Amino acid sequence: MEKLIIEGAKPLKGEVTISGSKNAALPIMAATLLTDEPCILQNIPCLRDTWTMIELLKSLGKTVVIDGNKIIITSEGKLNHIADYKLVSTMRGSFCVLGPLLAKLKKAQVSLPGGCVIGIRPVDLHLKGLKSLGAKIEVENGYVVAKARHFKGAHIYLGGVFGSSVLATANVLMAATLAKGETIIEAAACEPEVEDLANMLTAMGAKIKGIGSPRLTITGVKKLRGLTYKIIPDRIEAGTYILMAAATKSSITLKGACYSHLMALVDKLDQVGIKVYPEGSLIKMKCKKVLKPVSITTYPYPGFPTDLQAQFMALMAIVEGVSVITDKVYPDRFIHIAELNRMGANISREGFNAIVQGVKVLHGAPVMASDLRASAALVIAGLAAKGQTEIHRLYHLDRGYENLDKKLTALGAKVYRERE
Ligand code: EPZ
Repeated sequence: MEKLIIEGAKPLKGEVTISGSKNAALPIMAATLLTDEPCILQNIPCLRDTWTMIELLKSLGKTVVIDGNKIIITSEGKLNHIADYKLVSTMRGSFCVLGPLLAKLKKAQVSLPGGCVIGIRPVDLHLKGLKSLGAKIEVENGYVVAKARHFKGAHIYLGGVFGSSVLATANVLMAATLAKGETIIEAAACEPEVEDLANMLTAMGAKIKGIGSPRLTITGVKKLRGLTYKIIPDRIEAGTYILMAAATKSSITLKGACYSHLMALVDKLDQVGIKVYPEGSLIKMKCKKVLKPVSITTYPYPGFPTDLQAQFMALMAIVEGVSVITDKVYPDRFIHIAELNRMGANISREGFNAIVQGVKVLHGAPVMASDLRASAALVIAGLAAKGQTEIHRLYHLDRGYENLDKKLTALGAKVYRERE
């Protein structure tokens, strides 16, 4: 195992290139199961999670050739319909092979993804949507065992207790592309990653209306073709780097990011006193001397993203004054509070709210990475803190941030990896 050593309290400067979106790549890679023709995907980030998806596609019978950030996916023979526990349990995003396998093979056996530190992560909406299309689904020995003689279009409401579901929308959308007749998905997730998947499916020949809206109308087709497709940049990586700069009172430039995907963060940072603005294809920022504490509540897109909640909390931890942070998507997504407090933050929980009392300074400390985004919050705190921070279990960060230490070093941070 590896750890990340950060010598804190150094300003960042310069330009960082944002990688392809992990959360767009995973369902888009799964969607290649819908066709036997070759698919070339570009701007795929080199991450643990994308490697896991590549291994899963191979175990299902695909051939995958990796060429830097491009992958070529082809089919040699018949697909296997069983997605193995050991792969699915390491990455819940693998669950989005269920819809395409069912649509293509009319049967699928996919391990139930475990919960994780951010919540129990049920899959009831995935199963409800697929059953509406005609799937017969049993849960046996930790596996979803599904059969679908043929999928028939349906009018499906996919809203859950916590609002729309990104991967449930992805699973049902992919299955509906090959269903007989018309499917309408109400309360579909509108995240840019779902929009990117719908655009990719359209390029494969799918017929989808309402892309990017909460109402998707899909007219099933007989077959989907292969394609070459470039995925969108990672808005969560982009937001994380902006918050790293904000926490070190620096201004950096982002290359390759999509400004319109960041509006909820841009709006909140404007209130804090940090201007984030587009300049041509770049994104620049300017920080005021004195920052203001600002409260946030996370919601499904276009609301403030839950995947930037921990990182925003790390910034609020060093902004004098009180801010309240609430996560309506994962109400318990606060594992990062304990570790931030070990670095001198003053954050408490009151029910579903985190109360952040900003402090003047954080102090470097040995901390433990846990969830991908909680670990990103610790990097932000480590960059801002006085002294040295050691972040153990670095593999959590490697799941979602491509070349993190290299990108940070290029921005002037003093960070390096070390074997545990
Ligand atoms: C995706 O997970 C992302 N992962 C998550 O990012 C992200 O936090 C999440 O969407 C919300 O934006 C990928 O795209 C691979 P959901 P997903 O279904 O689709 C509840 C990261 O750090 N729910 O949109 O699994 C669920 O418990 C990861 O990159 C049900 O109740 O999340 C949650 O409260 C972490 N029933 C809410 O919906 C279901 O069947 C939103 O979850 C499914 C979900």
